Amino acid sequence: MSLPKAELHLHIEGTLEPELAFELAARNGVSLPYADTEALREAYRFKDLQSFLNLYYELMAVLRTEQDFADLANAYLARAAAQGVRHAEIFFDPQAHLVRGVSLGTVVEGLWRALGSSEANHGISTKLIMCFLRDESADSALQTLRAATPYLDRITGVGLDSAEVGHPPVKFREVYEAAAALGLRRVAHAGEEGPPAYITEALDVLGVERVDHGLRCMEDPALVERLVRERIPLTLCPLSNVRLRTVDTLADHPLPAMLDAGLMCTVNSDDPAYFGGYVGDNFAALHASLGLTEDRLRELARNSFLASFLEDDEERRAR
Ligand code: ADE
Ligand code: ZN
Repeated sequence: MSLPKAELHLHIEGTLEPELAFELAARNGVSLPYADTEALREAYRFKDLQSFLNLYYELMAVLRTEQDFADLANAYLARAAAQGVRHAEIFFDPQAHLVRGVSLGTVVEGLWRALGSSEANHGISTKLIMCFLRDESADSALQTLRAATPYLDRITGVGLDSAEVGHPPVKFREVYEAAAALGLRRVAHAGEEGPPAYITEALDVLGVERVDHGLRCMEDPALVERLVRERIPLTLCPLSNVRLRTVDTLADHPLPAMLDAGLMCTVNSDDPAYFGGYVGDNFAALHASLGLTEDRLRELARNSFLASFLEDDEERRAR
């Protein structure tokens, strides 16, 4: 679907297609425990978030140099442009690279090689959101924020991702307070696998402006009412929810009910190399499986710009 849209929930490491993974593995002398791209694709049968995360972190071993991160981001931007993306707010997971001896500078400078010329090369404006891994310690998150000091001119906001259940938002109160003091925007994954209470906590304790996923808000009518009243955007990822089994099939996805309830929903791809499609594919699948009308799809595309961190003048240019 080429409707002009913004993508607000996209993990750059989750755009690593098998072909590029093997190319980078060869370039960097990294061996992958899969015979070929077909064998790797066979591993893309996830039973839950953790089973996906295991593979997601394993494949990051091929990302070593600035050029690797630049190539990764350029490949995403080219695909996104072909699907109508005009603006992308891109997550990255620094701790998953630092632990492998890849510096924050390598990651940010590498991504910036692609993002810095994205408007000219792909017609896509971009912003970077640095995520903390919630299954790592709060102290590690604080150290990561400190390590990002030299790059804050390139980082718009902070996010929270990885294994959700058992890692409530409150664990990261201090680092979110520090991020806010630095003028960073705040988002967090909440209510993907975790309970509705994590969504409330992300709003009240972390001060998030957008909730990533937020799917399980539908279990708590009072929370839905609040999200509607405060016009808190949710960055939904329908194909991701099917692949990670948070919904049984796309036809069972609560997105139509969420729109009917008045929630500010957006549609995004999360980790498109792993979940069967980029953002336009998510739009197309919603049309095909849930019968979402053109008007509804246009509403979702419009929401994506309204929910973005673009300033008004930037937003006009992006649309
Ligand atoms: N990291 C990458 N994709 C994620 C997801 N869908 N949920 C939590 N952490 C993630
Ligand atoms: Zn995500």
